[in-house]
Amino acid sequence: MTIDQIRKKYLDFFASKGHAVIPSASLIPENDSSVLFTMAGMHPLVPFLMGESHPAGRRLMDAQKCIRTGDIDEVGDKSHLTFFEMMGNWSLGDYWKKEAIAWSFEFLTSVAWLNLDKNKLAVSVFAGDEDSPFDEESYNLWVEQGISRERIAKLGKDDNWWPAGGKSTGPQGPDTEVFYWIGNSEAPAEFDANDEQWVEIWNNVFMQSERTKDGHYIPLKQTNVDTGLGLERTLAVIEGKDSVFEIYELKVLIDFIKSQAGDYNDRSARIIVDHLRAAIFIMADDLGIAPSNLGQGYVVRKLVRRAIRHAKKIGIETEVDVTTPIVELVVENFGQTYPELLKNKQIIINELNKEEASFEKTLENGIKEFEKLSKDKTISGSQAFYLYSTYGFPLEMTKELAGEQGFSVDEQEFKQEFEKHQELSHTASVGMFKGGLVDHSQQVVKYHTATHLLHQALRDVLGNHVEQRGSNLTAERLRFDFVHPQKMTTAEVQKVEDIVNQKIREDLPVSFEEMTVDQAKAAGAIGLFGDKYGARVKVYSVGDYSKEICGGPHVEHTGMMGHFQITKEEAVSAGIRRIKAVLA
Ligand code: ALA
Repeated sequence: MTIDQIRKKYLDFFASKGHAVIPSASLIPENDSSVLFTMAGMHPLVPFLMGESHPAGRRLMDAQKCIRTGDIDEVGDKSHLTFFEMMGNWSLGDYWKKEAIAWSFEFLTSVAWLNLDKNKLAVSVFAGDEDSPFDEESYNLWVEQGISRERIAKLGKDDNWWPAGGKSTGPQGPDTEVFYWIGNSEAPAEFDANDEQWVEIWNNVFMQSERTKDGHYIPLKQTNVDTGLGLERTLAVIEGKDSVFEIYELKVLIDFIKSQAGDYNDRSARIIVDHLRAAIFIMADDLGIAPSNLGQGYVVRKLVRRAIRHAKKIGIETEVDVTTPIVELVVENFGQTYPELLKNKQIIINELNKEEASFEKTLENGIKEFEKLSKDKTISGSQAFYLYSTYGFPLEMTKELAGEQGFSVDEQEFKQEFEKHQELSHTASVGMFKGGLVDHSQQVVKYHTATHLLHQALRDVLGNHVEQRGSNLTAERLRFDFVHPQKMTTAEVQKVEDIVNQKIREDLPVSFEEMTVDQAKAAGAIGLFGDKYGARVKVYSVGDYSKEICGGPHVEHTGMMGHFQITKEEAVSAGIRRIKAVLA
């Protein structure tokens, strides 16, 4: 069976139970800035789980594209994927546990559908704790389906509650998970959730409450069923494959890597395939997200660079373009279902090629420096930080190179160095990505200072209504979004550019002071005065030209920045303009 076939089977089955299909939402959450990516089918549906009516009705089904980066270090084994498709069937205040459990069982085991061996199934249900009762109803429903009691585990909120742990706010409830035995031996009579030969394939969540900020559970307006069936994993299981990478659509990608590698290993090939597929799907959903140093763009950069690094590791020559053929294959295999891949193919190829080239440069310089520093077979945390901050050389690379030579890097010290130099700038969303780092390479720092000069110059030329709405820096350019009602004239653009260059020529010193938000306001500092800031803030001054709340870092004086040039002035949305500029 192929992914297309099993996806269709699922949708046909739930259509026969009265469900309407809805399209996958974008991987980039539209109205939810608390997560970088859509991680589960429920994310885009939260308003409807909370009681808003859905135009397609009360029984929905979908294949939702998901990105999960929390386990990124596990990718390379047999089952972890950064990007995956989650099938879901939804009851919005309609059916409840009885139907959901009966249908899960029917779809998995009926000859007409997946025809899985009933004797290889096990389930888990919520055991109950001090504030939520044991889910006895689900337990009994599974027994009615013929699952033996030894195959039903009762587990706590970490395992059988969604969202896991029960600590987050929003709609939630107990869940019941379905596992399938993939071992070669006969399935044991008793289910052990810690045995990896039992693979989780499906989760049914019974949402009945909302958890408030102060930790109380209040009943939802309606009870909902939220389910998640991991498409790739389930297909691997029913096909008896040893790993998710052996299902047809992923195997063609692995086979391509194999054909190019001089020194093949499974782990690297899986990382390349998984990471590039994830990056391609993300970029296809939002062309604004190219590899960069902030937010989602940073994740894309990390995925792409890690893939390229592994390509080198298994002997794929630098001259061989890995990314283009992978894009071609991903589009060929998934483009029918996800036409955004087809539509944006060429742009994605261009972005990936650019990223390959820029990473090549970073690597060359970084590796040279690494070799110098590691002569004595040690790299301290602060040396690793130096490689990172000066050469843009990722910590993961330093760790891997060190590992290859048989020593390790003091990550604790790296982190301390990092924290010393870094405070979240108001546009960074670093904390939202495990291990995420903002790039503080010298060039980015220059662009950061240029952004301050640009901000002030725009206010001088256009007026004080100019306010920052977004900023994104890479080692190649700055991007700055701001409030202004109309297109800037050529003369205005020229004037802004001239002012910034004048300030660069004046070689103004850059310094900062710490003060309270009120003092910062009184001192006339611009910047975002949201509650994102602590009681005390840093205010950066560029000479006495610009004063802005900001975490830094910045150049010490402006003379070192080069020549400033605006390359683009365009609309982002009504009332918001965007400038792109370079330092040459
Ligand atoms: N929301 C549930 C999950 O992602 C179904 O596992």
